[in-house]
Order: sequence, then C-alpha cells, then structure tokens
Amino acid sequence: MAKVKTKWVCQNCGYETPKYIGKCPDCGSWGTLTEEVEVKSSNLSQSVIIDESPVCLINEIEITESIKLPTGFEELDRVLGGGLVQGSLVLLAGDPGIGKSTLILQTSGNICKQGKKLLYICAEESGSQVKLRAQRLDVNTDNLYVYSQTNLENIVNQIDILKPDILVIDSIQSIYTSNITSSSGSVSQIRECTNILMDIAKNKNITVIVIGHVTKDGNIAGPKILEHMVDTVIYFEGDKYKSQRLLRSIKNRFGSTNEIGVFNMVENGLEEVKNPSELFMKERNENATPGSVIIATLEGTRALLVEVQALVGTTSYPSPRRVSTGVEYNRLLQIIAVLEKRIGLNLSKHDVYVNVIGGIEIDEPAADLGIALAVATCYRDVVVDSDCVIIGEISLSGEIRNVSNIEKRIYEAQKLGFKKAIIPKLTKKLPDNFDIQIIQVPRLMDAISACVSKK
Ligand SMILES: Nc1ncnc2c1ncn2[C@@H]1O[C@H](COP(=O)(O)OP(=O)(O)OP(=O)(O)O)[C@@H](O)[C@H]1O
Ligand SMILES: [Mg+2]
Ligand SMILES: [Zn+2]
Repeated sequence: MAKVKTKWVCQNCGYETPKYIGKCPDCGSWGTLTEEVEVKSSNLSQSVIIDESPVCLINEIEITESIKLPTGFEELDRVLGGGLVQGSLVLLAGDPGIGKSTLILQTSGNICKQGKKLLYICAEESGSQVKLRAQRLDVNTDNLYVYSQTNLENIVNQIDILKPDILVIDSIQSIYTSNITSSSGSVSQIRECTNILMDIAKNKNITVIVIGHVTKDGNIAGPKILEHMVDTVIYFEGDKYKSQRLLRSIKNRFGSTNEIGVFNMVENGLEEVKNPSELFMKERNENATPGSVIIATLEGTRALLVEVQALVGTTSYPSPRRVSTGVEYNRLLQIIAVLEKRIGLNLSKHDVYVNVIGGIEIDEPAADLGIALAVATCYRDVVVDSDCVIIGEISLSGEIRNVSNIEKRIYEAQKLGFKKAIIPKLTKKLPDNFDIQIIQVPRLMDAISACVSKK
C-alpha cells in the first residue's frame, strides 16, 4: 500500500507545512497545527468542474444585471448590499448559540413566500428540531425542503433532483466530502467543501448561504480561512445574555461593507430594529444628566454612537472603588489619574462607576475623552449638552490626541441629528460638507469648557 502523505495545517489560518512546528509562522498562534492527509489535486471535485466561461475580450462581455432577492428583512438586505445576489455564496459567521439558525430559518421562510424553492441542510440538527424551531418562529411554507445530512455528495445528489433556487448549509463545520479523508471541521474539509459549494453556486446558479461557527480563541477551524473564497461574509454578533444582535458585513463583492443591521432576539425569533441609535441610547433622558455622555466609537469598520454613564460619589470604603462595565479597567484608572493631575479633580475619596449602555464593549482609546467628561461632569454636577458628541484619546499629559476615521464618526453623529462634535485638534483640514458644529480641542480642559453647561 502506498504511504499516505500528510501535512500539518494551522487550524486558525490555514498555513501548511510538511513538518510539525509549535508556533504558526503565519498567524503566530501556538499549538494550532494538526496533521491532515494530503489531497492530490487530481481527485478534487472534478465532477462539478464544467468549462462554461471561455476566454473572451473584456469589451465583448455583456453585463448581466445581477438579480437581488429581498430577504424580507431590510436590515439584512442593507448589509448584503440590497438583497441576496443570485448565484452568490454568502457566509454567515457567529459565535455558537448567537442565533444564526434562527436568522436563516426566518429568512428562508420569507424567501419561500416569494415562490422560491429552498433546500435547508441541517447537518447539526434533526429535521424535527428544525420543525420545532420553525413552529416557534412561525415559519410556514410549502417551498421549504429540509434535509438532515452531513455528506456533501449526498447533498449534491439531492440538489440535482430538487433543483432548488437557494441552498442553506447549517453549518460548514459539520459537513464533509468523501473526496478527502480529514475529519469534518478540519481546515482541509472546510476548504474543500466550500470549493464544491462555490462551484454549485456559480455553475448551477444557486444562491448558497453557509453558516459557520467562530470561537474567540480561534483554535477550531474558523470561517476566517474561508473569507477570501466566498462572495460575502457577514458576522452575527451580540451578547448571549442580552437581546440585541448586530449583523455586520466584513466582505461584500456586491456592496459596501459599511452597513450594519440590528436585530432584537425575542421569544418568537428575531425582530428588526429600524433605528439602532434608539437601541444604543435606549431610555436616554431627553434632558442631559450629569455623568452622561455620547461618544462615537468604531465597531469594526462602522461608527456607532453609544452612551457612556459615570457615577461618582463619596466612598464608604477604606480605598475608593473603581468599577467599569464595557470599558477596560486599566484604561479607566489611567483616565482618573489624568483627571486628578491635570484638571485637579480630587477623586481619592470617591467611588467611580462607569458603564457603557447597550452591552457594547469599547476597547479603543477614542472613547477616553467621553469617559473623562462623564466622570468630570458627574463629579461637578454639571451636564454635557445633550446634542453633543465627544471623540478623542487622552494622553497622560492631558492633551487630546487624534483618532482614526474621525470623519466617519462625525458623519454618524450628524446623521443621527447631533448638533455639535467635540474632537481633537487636527493637523489636516476636514472636508467642509459637514452640517454639524465641529469644535477642535487641544487639551482636556478646553473640552470641558466647550461642551459643559451649568445644570
Ligand atoms: N424556546 C425558546 N424561546 C425563546 N428563545 C429561544 C428558544 N430557544 C432558543 N432560543 C433563543 O435562540 C438562541 C439560539 O438560536 P440558534 O439556535 O438560532 O443559534 P445558533 O447560532 O444557530 O446556535 P448553534 O451554534 O447552536 O447552531 C438561544 O440563545 C436563545 O436566545
Ligand atoms: Mg444553529
Ligand atoms: Zn496560523
């Protein structure tokens, strides 16, 4: 018997090497390389390779307007760039249990109502589990076919028989092709299965939606390695214990990646949130309150306005408490130190609590100035004007430093009706098409006087 050739593949990024090494030279992760059987390219997915696109001159190519199918969710359509493009492959990635199957099943129901035939491959669940979910979500249609199967060759057979318009794979980590011997979920399997699915999408003109799991530590083969292969990559994110969910596109061959979609998870499925600012600034008082500040943070590639609240009060502990939710603890300590040294706030006998509303985690320094102003205004019992948004990083010397994508942030504030933006002193000129008052402040002290009015 011929010796089976193996290779070592990084399960995080897909890097390949013939010998074992502890640290992946590509992505720097430790212990992520596992041994996989080498695949000869000769037996790779040949059955689906059909040469339908001969070489031609660019000037002779006729543009066919891509058909975009509405998904029944405006929030999803926007992220997709107007709808599902026929014959495209969309990857929906997200943490386990976040609601991927829920979103896709509801979307499937909406699509089927438009008379499209949809084949839903539930590789992780039984048909009756899917049926139970469908009942809870009130998905009821005659065009939705469910197939509980993990073998891709069987799935391809059914596709040829059923000829669906749309194919859903839930999930890519749990299907396998008999072409290669690696176990399902390994980098080679995921890559090979995606290759075959891509062929199905392009050659049979079937829209394919693929669900993929990601884990924070990245030890399991994540959809990261697929990102360059597919047409569109969407992430579904959120806190499992809170109801809001964010849909964000990381890559889109048919539209911009600047849009986010916001949903609310309720008992009978996902509800769209048409005005996300409402969600993130929920229950915000119309009248400004001391300690409440709106900041413009960057979530991925998109600017988001969120409210930061601070509570400062005389302590009853031997050493004062500092509690932060949604802001890094050490960052808060540093900001407090700057406020004490540069502004002269005496916080040594005060507890400081800082909270970001809406369950968002802020991990960028652009929120510094907002946090500082929240603490300072609460301490002095004054308010930051309620139509004012705060952007800027604070240095230890009390200077306000510039932040990335400042224009994007200001634009978001303007879009949501804010009248004033406090930003760092810029060296370059801003475009003059902003319809919002922009105040550039060099130092923390100037920021306070620029946006604070007496309560
Ligand atoms: N009976 C129920 N009533 C209300 N909400 C439910 C119910 N069952 C599940 N959910 C919600 O749906 C979420 C799971 O949704 P879903 O199965 O779509 O997630 P998923 O991302 O596909 O998970 P997995 O990684 O297991 O595939 C749960 O976290 C919960 O919030
Ligand atoms: Mg699922
Ligand atoms: Zn790697």
